[in-house]
Amino acid sequence: MPFITHIKTFAALGSGVIGSGWVARALAHGLDVIAWDPAPGAEQALRQRVANAWPALEKQGLAAGAAQHRLSFVSSIEECVRDADFIQESAPERLDLKLDLHAKISAAAKPDAIIASSTSGLLPSEFYESSSHPERCVVGHPFNPVYLLPLVEIVGGQRTAPEAIEAAKGIYTELGMRPLHVRKEVPGFIADRLLEALWREALHLVNDGVATTGEIDDAIRFGAGLRWSFMGTFLTYTLAGGDAGMRHFMQQFGPALKLPWTYLPAPELTERLIDEVVDGTAAQVGERSIAELERYRDDTLLAVLEAIGTSKARHGMTFSE
Ligand SMILES: NC(=O)c1ccc[n+]([C@@H]2O[C@H](COP(=O)([O-])OP(=O)(O)OC[C@H]3O[C@@H](n4cnc5c(N)ncnc54)[C@H](O)[C@@H]3O)[C@@H](O)[C@H]2O)c1
Repeated sequence: MPFITHIKTFAALGSGVIGSGWVARALAHGLDVIAWDPAPGAEQALRQRVANAWPALEKQGLAAGAAQHRLSFVSSIEECVRDADFIQESAPERLDLKLDLHAKISAAAKPDAIIASSTSGLLPSEFYESSSHPERCVVGHPFNPVYLLPLVEIVGGQRTAPEAIEAAKGIYTELGMRPLHVRKEVPGFIADRLLEALWREALHLVNDGVATTGEIDDAIRFGAGLRWSFMGTFLTYTLAGGDAGMRHFMQQFGPALKLPWTYLPAPELTERLIDEVVDGTAAQVGERSIAELERYRDDTLLAVLEAIGTSKARHGMTFSE
């Protein structure tokens, strides 16, 4: 069956941090959005989050006809998905919950609508097990803030059709994103697997009293973090090998890989460690509210994205290269 590839109506199930980010992105791209979330007060919280994201989206440039009032909030799963061309689930990360939810979503959706889940690491073959037409079901794993960060990892399950992956890629591209197809269905996909390794080591550094949370964040944001925004680890290390490139780099630094620099298994989350991390990050936050920090993050991300785009253009590259 051919899948819908140009969409007008976007359905969002679950409107927490990630779901509201999808809603903001879809609205900014001129779509009609229908949302559902079972929590009391969810509609008001969603509209508030979208309003908080809107200044950044305006700065980035809205599509013709884009408007916050094109969001409607409904009271059932069926109403949410019935007329949707594309469905994005962003419900809590629990296998039993997603399994049940997707059985209901897929039964009520148009058979040619693509269904995607924002899951950070659950396997689509598992949580789409009871879905009808599982060939149109994918993972579309975004990054926070969804309305600004371009990356979305697309993962298929055993029963996902290759055409559905292609359709999802096209739709996410129309939404201004940079889809990355994860070829194998592995837990944690690509990005979270890398981020999790860094997170474990960061917790060890706090646990061992080597550094505070702020110092560890400084170690990333004034160094590798700046490079990572436009050049990944492999290309960065190729340059670190000088003119001889990656082969030289691997010969020179290969032996260090055998040294016990990293623990890999996570530390025990003791009360002491949790307190240290919570107190450390509270000191970093200081007097600022989360909403203020979100504005600061959005503003800075926009500036970085613009700078990367300008620099790439000067070097003959497109933004998604
Ligand atoms: N937070 C992140 O950085 C991040 C990044 C990428 C992907 N994700 C994934 O996105 C999904 C949502 O995460 P989040 O951080 O937005 O969580 P969240 O707790 O902020 O939001 C979850 C929302 O789902 C609602 N909900 C509860 N039961 C539901 C149900 N049965 N059906 C639909 N919605 C229901 C809740 O009321 C809440 O509003 C998870 O699968 C998570 O792994 C999170």
